[in-house]
Amino acid sequence: MSTDPNRPLQNQKALVTGGSSGIGEGCAIALGTAGAAVAVNYHSSPGEAERVVAAIRTAGGEAFAIKADVSKEDDVHAMFAETIKRFGTLDILINNAGLQQDAPFHEMTLKQWERVISVNLTGQFLCAREAVREFLRRGLVPEISRAAGKIICMSSVHEVIPWAGHVNYAASKGGIMQLMKSMAQELAPKKIRVNSIAPGAIKTPINRAAWETKEALENLLKLIPDGRIGEPEDIARAAVWLASDQSDYITGATIFVDGGMTLYPGFAASG
Ligand code: BGC
Repeated sequence: MSTDPNRPLQNQKALVTGGSSGIGEGCAIALGTAGAAVAVNYHSSPGEAERVVAAIRTAGGEAFAIKADVSKEDDVHAMFAETIKRFGTLDILINNAGLQQDAPFHEMTLKQWERVISVNLTGQFLCAREAVREFLRRGLVPEISRAAGKIICMSSVHEVIPWAGHVNYAASKGGIMQLMKSMAQELAPKKIRVNSIAPGAIKTPINRAAWETKEALENLLKLIPDGRIGEPEDIARAAVWLASDQSDYITGATIFVDGGMTLYPGFAASG
């Protein structure tokens, strides 16, 4: 295990799904800076993924970009095979790829429902399963980490906060909560840790409409007791810590990184 506090993930190998933008980009760069070699997965933006790879290399890290649709089993198999071939093994999975396809409930198409569930929830299942297979194959290597592997699921405050107009997304995140906890319970005896980060409103392309105008941002800030929108780095710092041995006794937990969004801020002034 690493003894350098600035590089807690030294010599570890990581895969970040959806690593070419937003929270995934922030996590990939932070993991690289913390000493991990990083496979940066993307779906449709190779140029963006290469930009993230370049940022990690500039900071002295090792990285490469890899295309896969996480909802497709064959793509996921190929992505893990290539990552393990290049890195030798895998220690950390950041199960991050996700999307929104919003619609009023009565207008939501089956296609919108299925797309969001298959990327956000089935994608996390497929990637976690491949990661666990590699962790079990290789087993514990005490010089590298106290754990045989770490999985961090990117959830959302909407694993607990209902969200009108976004039932597919909220259902996918509620599903991630039980996927993560059930995996954590099953895999703890094998020294595999599984946890979630539940971000609140983080300034990324997925929620541009919620922050790009002054009026939208003012409305959004009413939901955030801390009084600011989050940045990808807020999430990335939690991801590095959850991936490191600093959090070795934590498994099955969801860490809300949300500026207090889950504190029912409406009740501060009424109720
Ligand atoms: C969603 C964002 C939203 C945030 C808070 C996230 O999971 O992807 O669009 O701003 O939750 O509601």
